[in-house]
Amino acid sequence: MQILVTGGTGYIGSHTVIELIRYGHTPVIVDNLSNSKITALDGIEKISGVRPEFYELDVCDKAALSQVFKTHDFAACIHFAGLKAVGESVRLPLEYYKNNLLSTITLLECMRENGCKCIIFSSSATVYGDPASLPIKEDFPLSTTNPYGTTKLMIERILRDFQFANKECSVTLLRYFNPIGAHPTGLLGEDPNGIPNNLLPVVMKAAKGELTLNVFGNDYDTPDGTGVRDYIHVCDLAAGHTAALKNAGKPGVFVYNLGTGSGFSVLEIINTFERVNGVKVPYVIADRRPGDIAACYADPSKAERELGFKAVHGIEDMCRDAWNYAKDR
Ligand code: NAD
Ligand code: UFG
Repeated sequence: MQILVTGGTGYIGSHTVIELIRYGHTPVIVDNLSNSKITALDGIEKISGVRPEFYELDVCDKAALSQVFKTHDFAACIHFAGLKAVGESVRLPLEYYKNNLLSTITLLECMRENGCKCIIFSSSATVYGDPASLPIKEDFPLSTTNPYGTTKLMIERILRDFQFANKECSVTLLRYFNPIGAHPTGLLGEDPNGIPNNLLPVVMKAAKGELTLNVFGNDYDTPDGTGVRDYIHVCDLAAGHTAALKNAGKPGVFVYNLGTGSGFSVLEIINTFERVNGVKVPYVIADRRPGDIAACYADPSKAERELGFKAVHGIEDMCRDAWNYAKDR
């Protein structure tokens, strides 16, 4: 299948492109390179032997995106493009609403005008807010605590309304838990611009001596007091997208958690990272980060039951592969 991948030079998108090629699909990437580098294409080519077609454009630019649709026949779109930094979204809400919502609406218009009937959307566990119980199932109540999360929830709603009005369409909402790690070859990984916010990129900067890691709170109601999350290897997450393509021909709205079902604390991540990589990660215990929750992990059984998807990489693989990519950068 020819598949349009928006945000395909980004962290999760680039790993998914590898997976699509492995399954014999033809991915076509559009990205404005606002948070990724063109060199991701070199990594993709070295790993897969294929250099996918690439268009540098903003998905909000209807004329430019329409041109891409006119010259291809996409069986599906996988929509990764978006801004994703929680803290930044609090400072720049308009930029987040404009980019994330307008890019999605523009993409849907192009799909409708060109007869493309399947979209897979990158949603997030952030749409569950602070869950009343764990593990989190797909039918739990939804709420958000920051503009980034609200864009995800609003886009989920837009996609549901779009599918209601276009009954032949297939919409899949993938709610990612915490993707970490990198391709085991060390040729692709997470290359965030600026100062990182997420735990693993900060752990790696600390291991290089570039900063001290603040552990945000050790007084949560968790086994060691630090925050617990469901970390999933980015290659597993990528495989979740090829699995989700099984629904491509089925009309309806499908929602899946993509996680492992296991939670790890911040201290467990630090200890595992130090052990598997033989490095020290200096850290201090700091205040809680506003907006954080104590614990969050998925019930991943629906994706396994309906898509045959199950994450196979453990936390050691995630820490090893992440460092293998980042250590010399
Ligand atoms: P990323 O920033 O590495 O990738 C996103 C890509 O989209 C970047 O290459 C960026 O340049 C591009 N982009 C942004 N706005 C664009 C626009 N208007 N037009 C064209 N390209 C645009 O992020 P990622 O970690 O790969 O995340 C991919 C998707 O998954 C995002 O939608 C993100 O919100 C979602 N998600 C990520 C996480 C996570 O922890 N990484 C968790 C849950 C959901
Ligand atoms: N943490 C620290 N120090 C840091 C960074 C993080 O102690 O410097 C802790 C956090 O307090 C939390 C855990 O590490 O307990 C994970 O934090 P991240 O920032 O890596 O991830 P979050 O769970 O806060 O959020 C991430 C993405 C969201 C996404 C969500 C999905 O940033 O976009 O996962 O579960 F929605």
